[in-house]
Amino acid sequence: MVAPQTSISSGAVRLAGKRAIITGGGHGIGRATAIEFARQGSHVAIVDLDEAACQETARQIIGLGGTCLPLAADVSDAGEVDQCVASVVDVLGGVEVLFNNAGVMPEGTALTTDMATWQRVLDVNLKAMYLFARATIPQMLSGGGSVINTASVQGLLGHPNRLAYVTSKHGVIGLTRALAADHAAAKVRVNAICPGTIDTPMLHRELEKAPEDERESLLQSYRELHPIGDIGQPEDVAHAVVFLASDESRFITGAVLAIDGGYTSLVVHE
Ligand SMILES: NC(=O)c1ccc[n+]([C@@H]2O[C@H](COP(=O)([O-])OP(=O)(O)OC[C@H]3O[C@@H](n4cnc5c(N)ncnc54)[C@H](O)[C@@H]3O)[C@@H](O)[C@H]2O)c1
Repeated sequence: MVAPQTSISSGAVRLAGKRAIITGGGHGIGRATAIEFARQGSHVAIVDLDEAACQETARQIIGLGGTCLPLAADVSDAGEVDQCVASVVDVLGGVEVLFNNAGVMPEGTALTTDMATWQRVLDVNLKAMYLFARATIPQMLSGGGSVINTASVQGLLGHPNRLAYVTSKHGVIGLTRALAADHAAAKVRVNAICPGTIDTPMLHRELEKAPEDERESLLQSYRELHPIGDIGQPEDVAHAVVFLASDESRFITGAVLAIDGGYTSLVVHE
């Protein structure tokens, strides 16, 4: 775990004073959301396996005048999760928002996914969300809170060659609804988001598996899968997460929000 870094936040109002934990905050959707949260007045703690990336997100937030506590940890390790949440409570004084977002996406069918890969994907993409929920929800019981879980369009639909990933993301939606039912009376809201294809390092790792001269046409095919005609940017997800974290969404819990340019709205893509 790395040393806490803090600075003064100013000027924003939608998440003013809210203390948030964002997992997978070192890259992609998590980093963009952490930065947007800080712009909106939230005190942010980010948890990521990649310590250098974690520090870089913190540097960017502090450069904007925000507050950031970077924590290098594996979200699938119960001891590390408990230690992270204890550090956040110690430094920030509590937690009102949890963005469960870290994830991994290996390929494989039932015939090509080994036990270690299956276990790792379920541990990082699903078990970690339970670990963070059980560690943070007690902090939210007196004053309410918001938990946002990153599923995927692959939590709503199947996809070839992604057995463990699709399974884990469908599980995220079940976990979200169960948590929402358990904690609504305490004003702890729990919602899931289902991004379509988003322009992050995860997408670029996928593209890099194709020969270099085929990558642009592969990217174009991803754009065309989304009726809106483009893939999303991490900020498109960040803005939706800000809404779900804010009091503007106070009557929304157990919801599953597609952020997918219409990907899941069509039976047949033309
Ligand atoms: N990019 C997309 O097209 C897309 C679409 C739908 C859903 N998602 C989901 O959005 C989430 C974020 O994806 P992204 O595209 O920003 O990915 P990314 O790979 O760009 O970023 C994921 C971050 O999670 C961190 N991480 C991975 N395993 C971890 C672990 N065990 N402990 C702590 N941190 C860990 C990584 O270090 C990385 O910083 C994931 O849950 C992913 O499944 C992404």
